[in-house]
Amino acid sequence: MEKIIRGEVVGGNKIGRRLGFPTANIRVDESLEAANGVYRARVEAAGRTWDAVVNLGRKPSVAGSGARVLEANLIGFEGDLYGQTIAVELLEFIRPERRFDSFEALRSQIALDRETVMKKL
Ligand SMILES: Cc1cc2nc3c(=O)[nH]c(=O)nc-3n(C[C@H](O)[C@H](O)[C@H](O)COP(=O)(O)O)c2cc1C
Repeated sequence: MEKIIRGEVVGGNKIGRRLGFPTANIRVDESLEAANGVYRARVEAAGRTWDAVVNLGRKPSVAGSGARVLEANLIGFEGDLYGQTIAVELLEFIRPERRFDSFEALRSQIALDRETVMKKL
C-alpha cells in the first residue's frame, strides 16, 4: 500500500486533546481511494519524519461531523502544526472506522490502536 496525502493542518473541534490524543487534521478529498479507518503511517512535518497513527473518515461517533478528514497523531511530537503543510504516507490498514456509543469506548479503542501501531515500529 502506498498513498501520500498532502494538506494544510486545520483546527479540529479539540476533542482530541480531551481524549489525550492530539491530532493534526487535514481535509481529504471524497475521491481519495483509501478506505476509511485507522492506519499506521509516516508523516513529514516540522522538518522531519514521524511515525504516526492515523484515522481517515467522518468521525461517526462525533455529533455534527460529516466531512471527510485525516487525523494524524505523531508519535513523539509535541506542539502545534496549525497552518503548516504536512505529507502523510499511509503504510498499513489497521481497522475500519466505526461508530462508538460512548466517549469511553472511543477512548479505549484509540489507545488500543496506538498500541497496535507502536508494536509494529
Ligand atoms: C487512532 C484514531 C482512531 C479513531 N477511530 C475513530 C472511529 O473508529 N470512529 C470515530 O467516530 N472516530 C474515530 N476517531 C476520531 C475521533 O473521534 C476524533 O479524533 C476525536 O473526536 C477528536 O476530533 P477533533 O480533533 O475534531 O476534536 C479516531 C481518531 C484516532 C486518532
